[in-house]
Amino acid sequence: MTSVLFVCLGNICRSPLAEGVFRDLAQKRRLSDKLEIESAGTGAWHVGNPPDPRSIEIANEHGIDISQQQARRITEADFSQFDFIFAMDQDNLRHLSAHRPPDGTATLSLFLDYAGLGQKDVPDPYYGGTDGFQRVYGMIETASSGILDRLFPVNDPS
Ligand code: 4NP
Repeated sequence: MTSVLFVCLGNICRSPLAEGVFRDLAQKRRLSDKLEIESAGTGAWHVGNPPDPRSIEIANEHGIDISQQQARRITEADFSQFDFIFAMDQDNLRHLSAHRPPDGTATLSLFLDYAGLGQKDVPDPYYGGTDGFQRVYGMIETASSGILDRLFPVNDPS
């Protein structure tokens, strides 16, 4: 089993989308039973809340239901329970690096390092409009696909 955790600031906009999109792609690649997929936030403001309505909406438009997710905050245990922790931006990554316990085994990395887009941060769409969520969705799809390619390379005999 490979376990992956997506982390943003509030766990209501970006990382819930990443969780939903990654789960959907994994299902389509028939990899669901090989993966544990969760998301969390570095902040606690929205703990227990469902994702932002704009994230729920953009996921819906792509046939993905994330409405049942509940925000939670990253815990110390996450650093040893997950194999990979992906930070949605460099602030999130700094927070994770600073809070990582000495015995933490998870590999920390920047989510967009797997997208090949030449960008480092999935921009925080919270204070913007719907177009921000659309842009974020595309980046999340590309990076999620890149991560799955890396974790589960497909043998190409050609
Ligand atoms: P997220 O977006 O980190 O993608 O979930 C945010 C959600 C809420 C806040 C900031 C970012 N906030 O300040 O409440």
